[in-house]
Amino acid sequence: MLRLLPTVKIAMTPKIAKRLENFKTTIFTQMSSLALKHGAINLGQGFPNFDGPAGLRQGGGHPAIREGKNQYARATASLLNAAIAARFQKDTGLTIDPETEVTVTSGCTEAIAATMLGLVNLGDEIIVFAPFYDSYQATLSMAGARVRSITLRPPDFAVPIAELRAAFSEKTRAILLNTPHNPTGKMLTMAELQEIAALCVEYDSLAFCDEVYDKLAFEAEHISLASLPGMFERTVTMNSLGKTFSLTGWKIGWAIAPATLTWGVRQAHAFLTFATSTPMQHAAAAALSTPDGYYEELRRDYAVKKEILVEGLRAAGFVVYPSSGTYFVVADHTPFGFDSDVAFCEYLIQEVGVVAIPTSVFYLDPEEGKSMVRFTFCKDEGTLREAEFLRDDLFG
Ligand SMILES: Cc1ncc(COP(=O)(O)O)c(C=O)c1O
Repeated sequence: MLRLLPTVKIAMTPKIAKRLENFKTTIFTQMSSLALKHGAINLGQGFPNFDGPAGLRQGGGHPAIREGKNQYARATASLLNAAIAARFQKDTGLTIDPETEVTVTSGCTEAIAATMLGLVNLGDEIIVFAPFYDSYQATLSMAGARVRSITLRPPDFAVPIAELRAAFSEKTRAILLNTPHNPTGKMLTMAELQEIAALCVEYDSLAFCDEVYDKLAFEAEHISLASLPGMFERTVTMNSLGKTFSLTGWKIGWAIAPATLTWGVRQAHAFLTFATSTPMQHAAAAALSTPDGYYEELRRDYAVKKEILVEGLRAAGFVVYPSSGTYFVVADHTPFGFDSDVAFCEYLIQEVGVVAIPTSVFYLDPEEGKSMVRFTFCKDEGTLREAEFLRDDLFG
């Protein structure tokens, strides 16, 4: 007879891999948990508190499941690869091969990880602009890369060209860009992109471009670096559905690159997830065929929300920096006299009932982000107006 031994729990020292031991629970998870705990209004994490278009939700994943689209998706020839290639053609004028130049991933987060793991060698230097989206540093650490951070400074967060030139060298494997930019809303200008392109060509470096907010461009036209002369050959363009369609939980993303680079991204993707959810790929292909009027309406809606938030923040006494794209704005909290962004955010949650994100988490050196906090306006108008502090001076 089989006899089970009683389970004994042994206390062990945590043995997390060195390359991840310095990373904490993401700031978004921390702040959203605090929002729940204090019943605060969450203007921190960038997920809409409203649903994506009803048509997409009804015609989404379920019919594909019922129709038997339930086995591993093929990496090369899915319906979604073709829809992504068609959208890229429309947006950039570049014709790409859906079979060899598109990799469907589980959100842009996985596209970022697969790009780093598939195309970066141990010790390679990667240039990033701070503040940066938090997954960059973690995935670069997983890939064993050396991060060279260049700080974009308020009020306009322009690229410091001389510093950028000085950072490039033969060791530069790639530059990692995000435009429109989280958290600042900065959009790279044609002149900045041309400068970056020239440096990539001069040093034979790659460019990894995160464009998840490309359809949330308010004050300028979004430009894909890949569309500049000579750049498609050396660029991985990463994107996803979540922000554009207010469906952040679908987690469908992609990476577009010439076949030689796509091979590296696909190798990493194959061993990270092998294939991304098949029925959700069908739902995503339907979303990408949405007529352009949808994007215009999305921008109109967000422009109204942005105005409510920005006016409220200004009325409350913040210095709000200009944001051209994304659904974020960054504000200077120092008029309120707190030592740090973290202290200010704690006060805001506990005493005012509103969540913001401290920006120091987006820098290698947290000191650089100490004076700023990020607010999102991807919430319904009622919620934005409910954040009462937006109407009055914060401290009376
Ligand atoms: C700049 C940036 N890149 C990537 C992502 C992640 O995208 P996804 O949800 O498609 O993985 C986010 C999400 O907030 C983001 O802000």
